[in-house]
Amino acid sequence: MSGNVFGKIFSIVTFGESHGKGIGVVIDGCPAGLNIDTKAIQKDLDRRKPGQSKISTERKEDEDFSILSGTYEGQSTGAPICIFIANKDQRSKDYDHLKDVLRPSHADYTYMEKYGIRDHRGGGRSSARETAARVAAGAIAKLFLQTQGIDIKAFVQQIGTITIPKDANYDMNQDENIVRCPDESTAQKMIESIEHAKQEGDSLGGVIQCQINDCPTGLGNPVFDRLEAELAKAMLSINASKGFEVGSGFEGTTMMGSEHNDEFKTIDGKVRTKTNHSGGVQGGISNGMPIVFNVAFKPTSTISKKQRTLDKNKEAIDLSATGRHDPCVVPRAVPIVEAMAALVIADHLLLQRATKV
Ligand SMILES: Cc1cc2nc3c(=O)[nH]c(=O)nc-3n(C[C@H](O)[C@H](O)[C@H](O)COP(=O)(O)O)c2cc1C
Repeated sequence: MSGNVFGKIFSIVTFGESHGKGIGVVIDGCPAGLNIDTKAIQKDLDRRKPGQSKISTERKEDEDFSILSGTYEGQSTGAPICIFIANKDQRSKDYDHLKDVLRPSHADYTYMEKYGIRDHRGGGRSSARETAARVAAGAIAKLFLQTQGIDIKAFVQQIGTITIPKDANYDMNQDENIVRCPDESTAQKMIESIEHAKQEGDSLGGVIQCQINDCPTGLGNPVFDRLEAELAKAMLSINASKGFEVGSGFEGTTMMGSEHNDEFKTIDGKVRTKTNHSGGVQGGISNGMPIVFNVAFKPTSTISKKQRTLDKNKEAIDLSATGRHDPCVVPRAVPIVEAMAALVIADHLLLQRATKV
């Protein structure tokens, strides 16, 4: 199986499965001398972990992690950093009823067809448990970005049909609630709708917005490695993601060029734009404005509501899935979006050092 590696200079390889001994990541290319704040890593792992609230899966993982290499006296040495997170609360028996079943819209059918061998307990490498490893690596990338004054923040903008109103006045840096929507009244409606979907044995999707602030001008390239293409790949590599848009995105198609163009101006001698429909990227290269993008997530595919499907012998069967599943993956995906964004920006900051004399 290939495709477990991401990034060029600041790069990661993740390993492990949902119901194996554990999962982990090896980070290559982290600059030496970075203070590795283990509390920051734990904080992001806790924001992603299962069992964190009444609207997430009931699987409990405390996400204790060990750093096996690449640090000395709390600092990165420049050598590969290996982080391991043990699995503790697998309850593999919960998956017995799914052993021979192809869950609609899950990875079961494609994974089985491709590899001919599949660990049905949690989905092996297609399990979102893998994303804990990315979050640990992303937390280290964020620490590097902090040294460069760059800040990344994501939040839940939409759950099902409930969206933060355009005129809402909220502070996206306030302490997070369980649904990770910074507009409190919208958050309450979102929580109720997820609880309702859960009671019905159903699930919901939604949209996460991510903002990267104080990113320097010049990251990204004009051809295949456009910054938005790199971010799109990073975001669409997250389980259950189904859409990516940067800046005005699909809504921009309804505007006239005269409305959409971001007029240039200067602030304290720096070139900035009056609007930010470009989402901080022009010609594939960051322009110094906030980089703003949205990621769409589908409703969780494993639901207890009865559905028609096939077993592995291609016989039609009814499926009412049991076990512990997220009624909506979106709140837990917020730190994953931030982690993947941090990995892309960290990599491009290092690539940028090789751009010109
Ligand atoms: C944080 C997170 C938690 C998830 N939890 C579940 C879950 O409990 N049950 C489930 O069926 N899918 C869950 N998923 C989604 C599946 O991993 C994903 O839908 C599946 O691997 C099929 O891949 P695809 O949806 O990207 O095509 C989760 C995804 C994320 C990001």
